[in-house]
Amino acid sequence: MWSFISHTRLPSLVALISQIFALALICILVMTTALPLTLFEWALLQGLMAGFISYQLKMAIWWLPIHLLFMPAVITMLALGLSPLWFGAVFLLLFLVYGKTYRTQVPLYLSSRDVTDAMALLLPTQRKFSFIDLGSGCGGLLNKLSKTQPHGAYYGVEAAPLPYLISKIRNLSLFSKCRIKWGDFWQHDLSHYDVVYAYLSPVPMGSLWQKACQEMRPGSILISNTFRIPGVEPEKSIPLNDFSGSTLYLWRI
Ligand SMILES: C[S@@+](CC[C@H](N)C(=O)[O-])C[C@H]1O[C@@H](n2cnc3c(N)ncnc32)[C@H](O)[C@@H]1O
Repeated sequence: MWSFISHTRLPSLVALISQIFALALICILVMTTALPLTLFEWALLQGLMAGFISYQLKMAIWWLPIHLLFMPAVITMLALGLSPLWFGAVFLLLFLVYGKTYRTQVPLYLSSRDVTDAMALLLPTQRKFSFIDLGSGCGGLLNKLSKTQPHGAYYGVEAAPLPYLISKIRNLSLFSKCRIKWGDFWQHDLSHYDVVYAYLSPVPMGSLWQKACQEMRPGSILISNTFRIPGVEPEKSIPLNDFSGSTLYLWRI
């Protein structure tokens, strides 16, 4: 069972299992020992155990602080005596932004200003072209590019409801060149675009390359922000000096 859990491709499920196991162990300790710990100290111990279990289950190392702090944070928030409505509201907000991340394994984070400027230099200046942002977030990149390179037709597909809504509001103008759809970009045909941009995560890059090779036209360009395609050398790499140390990788199909 241990190896089944560590091989599942759903890290959020492994995280939940780590937390539940650690909580069960703490409950057993509370009932069978007389350790004089406060509630907060028990919560810290539970966090340590959850972190240890997640490490044993080979979760990515950045899950460790999340496991360590989760239960202490719950206890602290409960101690503040806030109305449950606040928790409901924050949960709803997070769900509308990150609710699908457990499946896509691509959270929302936005392309920097440096990335947008570098992208503008890569797009054609004299002729018409079509551009798509796969997982267009709040539509900021599309909006800015459509203003600096007006020959383009700009498209976006976004799965998360709240970022999608924000991008729609942002591009409400009648003159907007951006068309943004709510949905799953894996269901979207890439053969219509000259330039495909993706700022995703390491997880989908192999599948994205397969999709690009099957659907994109010869001569069209795939650009990935930060994440490389495993085993496929990019034609060009453009390192940028922004806060997250982004690099743009280009592949010509
Ligand atoms: C890292 S953000 C990038 C946002 C935007 N492209 C930018 O560069 O500022 C990735 C976005 O992709 C979206 N996403 C992930 N998988 C998706 C999918 N299969 N279909 C549509 N959107 C997806 C996420 O919801 C998230 O908003």
